[in-house]
Amino acid sequence: MSVRRLAEDQFQPAAFAFNDENAAWADKTIQKYPAGRQQSAVIPLLMRAQEQDGWVTRAAIEKVANMLDMAYIRVLEVATFYTQFQLGPVGTRAHIQVCGTTPCMLRGSEGLMSVCKSKIHHHPFERNAEGTLSWEEVECLGACVNAPMVMIGKNTYEDLTPERLAEIIDTFDAGNGASVTPGPQIDRHFSSPEGGPTSLTDEEPKKKAPAKKVATDAATAKVDAAPVPPSEAARPKSTDAETNAALKTPVTAPKAAATNAKAVEEQPGVAAPVPATAKPSLTDKNRPAGIEKPATPDDLKLISGVGPKIEGTLHELGIFTFAQVAGWKKAEREWVDGYLNFKGRIDRDDWVKQAKALAKGGEAEYIKVFGKKPR
Ligand code: FES
Repeated sequence: MSVRRLAEDQFQPAAFAFNDENAAWADKTIQKYPAGRQQSAVIPLLMRAQEQDGWVTRAAIEKVANMLDMAYIRVLEVATFYTQFQLGPVGTRAHIQVCGTTPCMLRGSEGLMSVCKSKIHHHPFERNAEGTLSWEEVECLGACVNAPMVMIGKNTYEDLTPERLAEIIDTFDAGNGASVTPGPQIDRHFSSPEGGPTSLTDEEPKKKAPAKKVATDAATAKVDAAPVPPSEAARPKSTDAETNAALKTPVTAPKAAATNAKAVEEQPGVAAPVPATAKPSLTDKNRPAGIEKPATPDDLKLISGVGPKIEGTLHELGIFTFAQVAGWKKAEREWVDGYLNFKGRIDRDDWVKQAKALAKGGEAEYIKVFGKKPR
């Protein structure tokens, strides 16, 4: 990165003023920002000053600072930070910024700089004899995927070869820069593969709706036949008495479900149902025993991993106390974990150990065991 300083005094004009059109534009631009935030217009105003005079002069920096009620040094900092601002006179038809950062360097930016040296001037920031062209090396301009590249004005020219850059420079020098199409200079669209897409070229895949539909219907039939619980959202509200009655329902579902699954598999042309990754059955033998809601249920949210929603679900399952959770065996933990779709989190968070501590001595015991307060 080169040191960026203002041009020497001999180049600096005595004053700067926006022309009428740009002055009106600047007023309008400043008004876009909330009261007290007009300084946010510093970059657009500096850029407009550069577009008007070709580069950012000291007088322009001071003018913009006065317009935005900023210290000169603050505007100078902005102007010297961004390489998009030219701090000295540049070519009147093109100033070529060649990216020399690693991806572009590996892909040939040194060759591009050689072209600039031979066609414009051996040294960056020096203009050609006619004063129409200049160049510099800059850091990454964000088009690395199409390296090597250059920026001229607000446009980038990518996937360059030395030969193509030479043509572009000649075109700009002839005053026809607008005729050069920015972007990749090879047969590719933006950063797509050269020559066109190489993947996802098919039309939308044909849907296998009929088979899927039948399978879905079959799976639904299976659900209907066996007392598998509906989804959380569709679960009807039940009274405590109904819940407790359901807790005592004998276990018959797995066999029925298996029979139905087999029947589905045997239907010709019907896809096999999805393996049982769904919620385990409420009537499964491994479901932890529930109890009726006590007068003062424990605050299950003290267990790390249990929030209000999970606590509500546990209550629906008849789980109200630390002692119940503390007594869960492995199969029961797995059942609850599957029911909550927790993917092993109950054991990872060690609900049983937490519940044991809370059941034994509340928060004090929890702190003794875990060295911190429960959540
Ligand atoms: S490295 Fe050249 S554009 Fe990023």
